[in-house]
Amino acid sequence: MNNKDLIALFEKLYSLGNYKEMIDKAEVLLKDNPENYFLWNTIAVAEKNLGNTEKAIQIHEDNIKREKNNFVAYGNLANIYKVQGKLNKAVKYYEKTLEINPSAADAINNLGVTYEEIGDTNKAKKYFEKAVKLNPNNRSANYNLGNLYRSSSLYDKAIDYYQRSKGLDISESHMLECYYYLGMKEEFYKLLKSLTSKNEYNPLIACLSSHATCVDDIEDDYPFCPNPLNYIYHSNLLDEGLIDENFIDSLNNSIDTIEVSLKKQPLLINGRQSAGNVFNINNPIIQKLNNIISKKIEFYKKLFVEDNIALIKYWPERYTNLGWFVEMDEEGSLKTHIHKRGWVSGSFYLKMPKDKKKDEGNIFFTLDGADYPKGKKEPYQFENKIIDLKIGDIVLFPSSLFHGTIPIKSKEQRRCFAFDISPHI
Ligand SMILES: [Fe+2]
Repeated sequence: MNNKDLIALFEKLYSLGNYKEMIDKAEVLLKDNPENYFLWNTIAVAEKNLGNTEKAIQIHEDNIKREKNNFVAYGNLANIYKVQGKLNKAVKYYEKTLEINPSAADAINNLGVTYEEIGDTNKAKKYFEKAVKLNPNNRSANYNLGNLYRSSSLYDKAIDYYQRSKGLDISESHMLECYYYLGMKEEFYKLLKSLTSKNEYNPLIACLSSHATCVDDIEDDYPFCPNPLNYIYHSNLLDEGLIDENFIDSLNNSIDTIEVSLKKQPLLINGRQSAGNVFNINNPIIQKLNNIISKKIEFYKKLFVEDNIALIKYWPERYTNLGWFVEMDEEGSLKTHIHKRGWVSGSFYLKMPKDKKKDEGNIFFTLDGADYPKGKKEPYQFENKIIDLKIGDIVLFPSSLFHGTIPIKSKEQRRCFAFDISPHI
């Protein structure tokens, strides 16, 4: 098999999620060629996707030992650190990649994404623009510029960039959101119809469709989850006997001690949110929580299996569990938001003020948020729901449903673990 065929084979296995087969095949070929960088890299990528992050890191480091200017290995290490939420380490390795190969487009773009997560928007923009200058058709960099302009409410400009990144990730859904903010209803409904006819299902389209059809008093034909308030699941893992108090204490200790950066989260008042995916950190307590959440998510799916909604019917075949923690101090709160890249989302509560009064610190759900336009004459009164929370509670809900936290008054901290199942697009 020549190199071209080999690359095509591994790409196919990767796209099918056959990571184990990738490793088996690469290991057989390594017997004749034990120093082959490409084969080692293939194994590392597969191991990473199997959740064996530390193994993947070791392989990339060995590749660097064999070939000190291996910029691909540096870039891959940076990608792992970025996903683990070790943002400063990721920046260091992306910079090393660019020192060796200044035109490594993925590293330039990913460095921009990392700076955006850190909260340095100017640096992020600089790197995205650099990537676009090197290649005006770089869809990722165009998409990221679109996201930056959208976050700054420059929707016209954002649409231009989303046009250039069509087909990538949820670019068109973001374009739909920009049309909505701009009040361009004709373009909005035309694009909504087109996305629906293409069976493109995601929480952002669902949330926009629900909001617009409420405001315009028309039927919501988008089938993701038309009545998301009916799909909130709430239970307590302590009461169910799935965990005990020691588990909560150990998890709190783990969160206090793990090496993870904080992410810029403009919606969070008097609080902190972890960066990256905490489930990628090799910690037994966090992995135990990951297992419990996975089982709960399967339970959630079964609970609604009879319902004729895309959320259940088109449940993603391949997805990643993404997890992060959110903690708040006195007067802390989290403004309403949805999880655009999720499918089903949830939260698990580790600390709640003991002296909490009424609804303080509770999670609320609503069909309105993100300052979406509400119609001028008679603003529509959106439904909402509040869940009373205590330590050990777990709440699951469609990622399309707006939610936020009622401000806490207590001096005691509130801490939760938030998660998504995020489909592989
Ligand atoms: Fe959330």
